[in-house]
Amino acid sequence: MILVTGGAGFIGANFVLDWIAATGEPVVNVDKLTYAGNLENLASLQGDARHVFVQADIGDGEVIGNLLAKHQIRAVINFAAESHVDRSIHGPEDFIQTNVVGTFRLLEAVRAYWNGLQGDAKTNFRFLHVSTDEVYGTLSATDPAFTENNNYEPNSPYSASKAASDHLVRAWHHTYGLPVLTTNCSNNYGPLHFPEKLIPLMIVNALAGKPLPIYGDGQQIRDWLYVRDHCSAIRRVLEAGKLGETYNVGGWNEKANIDIVKTVCALLDEMRPRSDGKSYVEQITYVTDRPGHDRRYAIDARKIERELGWKPAETFDTGIRKTVQWYLDNPEWVANVQSGSYRDWVQKQYSATSN
Ligand code: NAD
Ligand code: TYD
Repeated sequence: MILVTGGAGFIGANFVLDWIAATGEPVVNVDKLTYAGNLENLASLQGDARHVFVQADIGDGEVIGNLLAKHQIRAVINFAAESHVDRSIHGPEDFIQTNVVGTFRLLEAVRAYWNGLQGDAKTNFRFLHVSTDEVYGTLSATDPAFTENNNYEPNSPYSASKAASDHLVRAWHHTYGLPVLTTNCSNNYGPLHFPEKLIPLMIVNALAGKPLPIYGDGQQIRDWLYVRDHCSAIRRVLEAGKLGETYNVGGWNEKANIDIVKTVCALLDEMRPRSDGKSYVEQITYVTDRPGHDRRYAIDARKIERELGWKPAETFDTGIRKTVQWYLDNPEWVANVQSGSYRDWVQKQYSATSN
């Protein structure tokens, strides 16, 4: 059995669903259920004995230790984190608590359990830490893409807290021999993505007739990966990754934010045209830039391809079409996540950034 943390969030829930479908191996899912955690993401697993959900904080060493021992866990995959850059700018404290202190406590609970294992159970145990390309900082238009050898130069409270957690994971390997693996992935998109992030926010705002807020000049570049490709990369690293190594995961798909938003608008024009016959691009609004906004991220994903044979299955064209279709097909999911606390966030963030 494996233990996943943060499995009620965007990537974690996609991972749990894909894992059970692909392997049939049971999962213990530990999630605190912050604003970003949503059990509705896992509704299709209700009553399925292969999914054991436990509401807990990764920083609660006692709960984690008990779960590891009770279920004889063979691998831990750590998705749990505060994940939104804009929220980290408004309130960095939670990011330090979960991403740094929480990861530290989780590592300690895992180390105590792993120390008590014997033979093959000890040799085969894995701790896989899910991280981000944002730890490497920002690139100019002409810089080469991030490789695993780039220096860490995080610029936001979010990326600094993730960088700190990566360093802890590395140190627990070098100092204590904990069998760890780290993945640094680019921006994900796909079903179950909370609509505070660029792509789902644009889809739900467009459909609601609201402005599509572009920070600054909209020329910031991200590399976009369909979430299920990220899940398959994690499965592959868990299966065959070399202990103590890090693997960059990306979609070979760099795009400027404004082009992403125009693509979403064009798909919606085709799939759910506006009743007035105009294009959704009319809703695009430029707003004040994010402080410290990283200009460009790009991932060189050759190592994972060369060493582990992993490549993304989706192109951006196929992935973004599936994503828009999923949001069109799931208005209830959208309505349910747009709760009171979501509305408070949108009010706080976008009243401050409006020009
Ligand atoms: P998310 O915000 O959608 O989900 C995070 C989940 O973690 C939520 O279910 C939340 O309830 C849970 N959580 C938060 N604090 C917790 C705590 N203290 N204890 C237990 N659970 C807690 O995030 P996501 O987009 O799914 O990202 C998952 C991981 O992948 C994060 O570590 C993130 O840094 C990393 N990552 C994300 C992206 C991306 O584009 N979204 C890209 C690369 C890496
Ligand atoms: P986001 O989805 O928050 O991911 P990250 O900051 O981790 O890359 O943002 C992606 C890009 O989109 C980033 O350059 C900021 C920009 N952005 C906007 O222009 N408007 C928005 O309303 C949001 C949420 C993001």
